Amino acid sequence: MAEYVVELKHVTKKFPGVVAMRDMHIQIKPGEIHGLVGENGAGKSTLIKVLTGIHIPEEGEIYVDGARVNFRNPVQAMEAGIACVYQELNIVPMLPVVDNVFMGRRPTNRFGLLDYPQMHRIAHEALSTLGHAEINTKMECGKLGIGLQQMVEIAKAVTQDARLIIMDEPTSSLGEQEVKHLMDTVRRLRDRGIAILFVSHKLDELFELCDRVTVMRDGEHVLTDDITNLDEDKLIQGMVGRSLDNQYPKEFGVKGSCYLKAVGLNQAGVLRDVSFEAYSGEVLAFAGLVGAGRTETMRAVFGADKLDSGDLYIKGEKVNIKNPGEAIRRGIAFLTEDRKGQGLVLSLPVRQNLTMANMKKYRRGPLLNHHHIRQVSEDNVRTLRIKTPSINEVVVQLSGGNQQKVVIGKWTNCDADIFIFDEPTRGIDVGAKIEVYNVMNRLVKEGKCLIMVSSELPEVLGMADRVIVMREGRVMAEIARDSDHFNQHDIMKAAWGGEIA
Ligand SMILES: Nc1ncnc2c1ncn2[C@@H]1O[C@H](COP(=O)(O)OP(=O)(O)OP(=O)(O)O)[C@@H](O)[C@H]1O
Ligand SMILES: [Mg+2]
Repeated sequence: MAEYVVELKHVTKKFPGVVAMRDMHIQIKPGEIHGLVGENGAGKSTLIKVLTGIHIPEEGEIYVDGARVNFRNPVQAMEAGIACVYQELNIVPMLPVVDNVFMGRRPTNRFGLLDYPQMHRIAHEALSTLGHAEINTKMECGKLGIGLQQMVEIAKAVTQDARLIIMDEPTSSLGEQEVKHLMDTVRRLRDRGIAILFVSHKLDELFELCDRVTVMRDGEHVLTDDITNLDEDKLIQGMVGRSLDNQYPKEFGVKGSCYLKAVGLNQAGVLRDVSFEAYSGEVLAFAGLVGAGRTETMRAVFGADKLDSGDLYIKGEKVNIKNPGEAIRRGIAFLTEDRKGQGLVLSLPVRQNLTMANMKKYRRGPLLNHHHIRQVSEDNVRTLRIKTPSINEVVVQLSGGNQQKVVIGKWTNCDADIFIFDEPTRGIDVGAKIEVYNVMNRLVKEGKCLIMVSSELPEVLGMADRVIVMREGRVMAEIARDSDHFNQHDIMKAAWGGEIA
């Protein structure tokens, strides 16, 4: 057996105006969990697409088990034993688990065209090796939670006899428990000799899981080392090119009047008697486990979901917000958790996406003030460090994290008073998070009211003036920054349903 299951040498991949990968190399050993990190736009997804035959590089060599390969399409990569679990899962929700596991492979299956009993058995076996024997292979896939759907995708890779399974930010939409299960599964795969390439912006996950880590910067290889030789600062140094002495550069605004007040919000099975007040000049964070009802609260405030009962007041005035359009007119901006769905028109340029939430600001009579649009866009690109060849690039060409920065820019360009940020730094690299926090600082200092839903406690502790902890649709605790309970332990305790004094 060759020393490396997959090896990349001197690989260069260019796009118009961008060198996404330059002279890149990586060596992946059989049965290792290999982490891959880098800033947004560093080239991680490009590397994956080269390994899976989606992109064909201009230069360089790929070896599988020591033998040179030339992938011309994804099928060739799959046949060579390389599989990928993408963040946006390739599941067909209406189809049963078994059909998803064998998606696109049935006709050439060596078990014959429609040998369903055999397919069920193999699918079940694969799910069992992943530690999920409980998944019924006849069940409609869409009825499974995200974490289990991901398991189905991994089962697909396993039944393809993949020797390298690539996971591109697999934990970004999972809850805490699901992340644990995924990690267990990844370790099981490793113990069976399968190599894993694991991409994540969450450095603590890499330390928990990986055997070795490779860091990329600007499309190039920076370092590869055993995880035991690395620490957070070394990774950040490698990614960003410098140390970050303060990952949470919190600045304080002046707390003003109550901008948003919710009294007794109820929604059957979702929200129970949720009340809170959010003030001008402060960051109010909503903490809790995934599924605690935080996003649902925000959707209700924004008029996206109907309430059964409850009252909302904006700047003291009782309001009845029936739809998001009305919420926006009343000065609420909502950066949602699901940014693909709402935020962007992928086929339009960066500049248009950045300014479209507030077109009236850029009108001059019947015409658009293109100079103003350009100015604002250039400014956003600079302050948020959006990696793009120009403001005229279409958004679909940007990396995942840079698309998210465009959404953040878009909403902060609104003339809103109340900003709701739901998981604002998900998918954003450590360095760029600081730019997002600086934008938050700026808004708060301008006297805006900022509500941040976040599952990352260090971020909550770093940036919030006050925290509301939710669990199962209820408010469990409210903790101010100067309280003794403003710490990780007490917030977690409340999130799990414990009493804090
Ligand atoms: N199809 C494409 N056309 C043009 N440019 C592209 C294309 N795909 C990627 N790029 C550019 O290549 C660079 C690397 O992008 P890539 O998606 O590999 O980054 P990444 O490391 O995965 O970032 P993220 O952490 O944000 O997901 C970026 O500058 C991106 O804009
Ligand atoms: Mg990516």
